[in-house]
Amino acid sequence: MMQFLAENLMKAAYKTKRFLTLLVVDMPKNHKISSISSKSSIWGGRFSSGPSQLMNDINASISYDRRLYRQDIAGSKAHASMLAACEIISQEDCEAIHSGLNQITTEIEAGQFVFSEALEDIHMNIENRLFQLIGEPAQRLHTARSRNDQVATDFKLWVRELLEAIDQALADLQAALLDKAEAHAEVVMPGFTHLQTAQPITFGFHLMAYVEMLGRDRGRFTDAKVRLNESPLGAAALAGTSFPIDRHMTANSLGFDRPSANAMDAVSDRDFALEFLSAAAICSVHLSRFAEELVIWSSDQFGFITLSDAFTTGSSIMPQKRNPDAAELVRAKPGRIIGALNGLLIVLKGLPLAYSKDMQEDKEGVFNAADALGIALAATTGMVRDMKPQPDAMLAALKTGFPTATDLADYMVRELGMPFREAHHASGIIVATAATKGLGLEDIDLKDLQAIEPRIKPDIIGLLSVTNSAAARTSFGGTAPDEVRTQIAHARHRFTIG
Ligand code: ARG
Repeated sequence: MMQFLAENLMKAAYKTKRFLTLLVVDMPKNHKISSISSKSSIWGGRFSSGPSQLMNDINASISYDRRLYRQDIAGSKAHASMLAACEIISQEDCEAIHSGLNQITTEIEAGQFVFSEALEDIHMNIENRLFQLIGEPAQRLHTARSRNDQVATDFKLWVRELLEAIDQALADLQAALLDKAEAHAEVVMPGFTHLQTAQPITFGFHLMAYVEMLGRDRGRFTDAKVRLNESPLGAAALAGTSFPIDRHMTANSLGFDRPSANAMDAVSDRDFALEFLSAAAICSVHLSRFAEELVIWSSDQFGFITLSDAFTTGSSIMPQKRNPDAAELVRAKPGRIIGALNGLLIVLKGLPLAYSKDMQEDKEGVFNAADALGIALAATTGMVRDMKPQPDAMLAALKTGFPTATDLADYMVRELGMPFREAHHASGIIVATAATKGLGLEDIDLKDLQAIEPRIKPDIIGLLSVTNSAAARTSFGGTAPDEVRTQIAHARHRFTIG
């Protein structure tokens, strides 16, 4: 069942374009990992024997940081070109390094690369293979660089691509909501406060609330990208380097706005990961609130929408069931994402400058949160595109709960000049009378209304219908269909959605 759901989600994700190709398929699946323990050829100079297997097990990050391979190779190419331009290595060595790194990309993407746990992480795995391929020039690549600035650079590049992919996925979801809102701008449904019937609203209006929330989410991810975009490369271990490097050149070629101003900050900063996780946590909470509404709306008791077969599952025992599993899983994803944010905040709290190995714990949470948010966004977009509103059920739900009681009070204020508090009280008495008679407000006799407030005139008839109530709320940002159509047009423009 889960396998089936996962496949459906993946299909929907592909339909909703690039997102998962970047987030989930950013590492070929058929990689191999060997775990032979031996003295490290990269840092083993002062050691006489190799680390214990347990040391390797706790130390190695290759099982997950191999997802950084593209960024690591891009960073190394930029660094090698800069070293050559600054005449720190020869042009021939630089070319050998580039062609070796190209070969490694091919091997990784073909699933032929053998990742080694003994080589700890993606940086040393790639450097070691480069040495096997091109020999001595590989050993010059790490001049004026440390794994500390290298990993910060790789991880920033990865998170930057992620932020771009999320922005696109959020725009796709906004587009789906806008289309649905436009198609159903006239459909009237109950609006709730305390999950009790409050006032009639339109379905399009309700969906547009989420377009705004997702717009703010996009703003947070975009802001995070601006602050992230300083290059740590060339900060070296923590103190900079005595080689005449050009940090502006590497920053520029990797698409950063500038090199980070302080080398120690450059290798210690994980704010960019925290900012991604914070924005992701808020976004996932938005998606979770929407998912909960989908669960409620699609229940037999509400029946406001139907979800498609593509995003529901059956029960192994109850043949009649159509469970909104995808919505429930979207509702649950903040558990992981907020957990990842908490986890990284706790790892960094009290950590002295500069790099400590604690910081290696930054990646899994971010990867996990990225995958969770990616699939939640894709599944939500799929559900929105497929869902069908049920206007009859929404209208039927408006038969109870006196949703136009405020319209009645507003009438008495507008037409009879009553102060609102007094009108509120009179309307309350009318509601109580209607409740005793088992009637809705729009069905109550004019005579009965006038018995309570004699100044009420026949022009009240019709005003208390739910459709008129919604149509009357034309204030800026209100629920009237015409106003919602204006909101939709503005939102398409503000969020640059076609
Ligand atoms: N795998 C390490 C990490 O992710 C790379 C940096 C290692 N630096 C060090 N000084 N041991 O953090």
